Amino acid sequence: VDGDEAVVIDSGSRPDFPVVMMKILQTGIMPSAINALIYQHYDPDLCGNISNFENIIDRKDLILISDSRNNMFIRHYSVSSKLVSLDAINHRFTFSSGRELKFFNTPYSHSAGSFVSFDAKTGVLFTSDLFGSFGAKWDLFQKLGSECRKCVTYTKCQEGRDYCPLPDILRFHKEIMTSGRALQYAIEQIEKIPATMLTPQHGSIISNQDDIAYLCSVLKSLKNVGIDGVIGPYSDC
Ligand SMILES: [Fe+2]
Ligand SMILES: [Fe+2]
Repeated sequence: VDGDEAVVIDSGSRPDFPVVMMKILQTGIMPSAINALIYQHYDPDLCGNISNFENIIDRKDLILISDSRNNMFIRHYSVSSKLVSLDAINHRFTFSSGRELKFFNTPYSHSAGSFVSFDAKTGVLFTSDLFGSFGAKWDLFQKLGSECRKCVTYTKCQEGRDYCPLPDILRFHKEIMTSGRALQYAIEQIEKIPATMLTPQHGSIISNQDDIAYLCSVLKSLKNVGIDGVIGPYSDC
């Protein structure tokens, strides 16, 4: 939200629409204040409710923003809005105040046109499926302990906790991302962004800087990601 304008990032699935819309209304935002919908890839858990949003926002000038490689799929969800590509807006959305959201491509993590969105004003990086989790036990915020950053087995918790979030995070990336190379490249792009908070679409919000750095290093070196886990890692020898 910026002044009397708002955008929604990855608005959600069709069955989740009433819950998502109620939460938006509870913040005091009128649907007509939403002038753009941003989709960081084209999965139904992000895009399924596009037509519901178009209906309730009811603005002829509503735009849908995504990478052009996503838009060829997103157009099948949309009924009425203009689709705008990241290239057409120089990878940034600018509010009337001048505040910007910047978009960074993370190709094949996990879709060809996947990207993340950075709000420099708050330091929040919306990471979509990156840093997500299957999350058997869910908290809105996730904080690891200092012992977690030394752990390699994730079996017996040195912090005395009854649930370790790491196995669910790592298994999510192995199953959802396309390859170790794609995931490593995506994390390298994210490490260049001065984010103070990561807000994945699944899983928990991560705001501790040591946790962010630790998760980046673990994910960059993760083995058996995507196709690598099926036929082995890429080799050009
Ligand atoms: Fe996805
Ligand atoms: Fe997802």
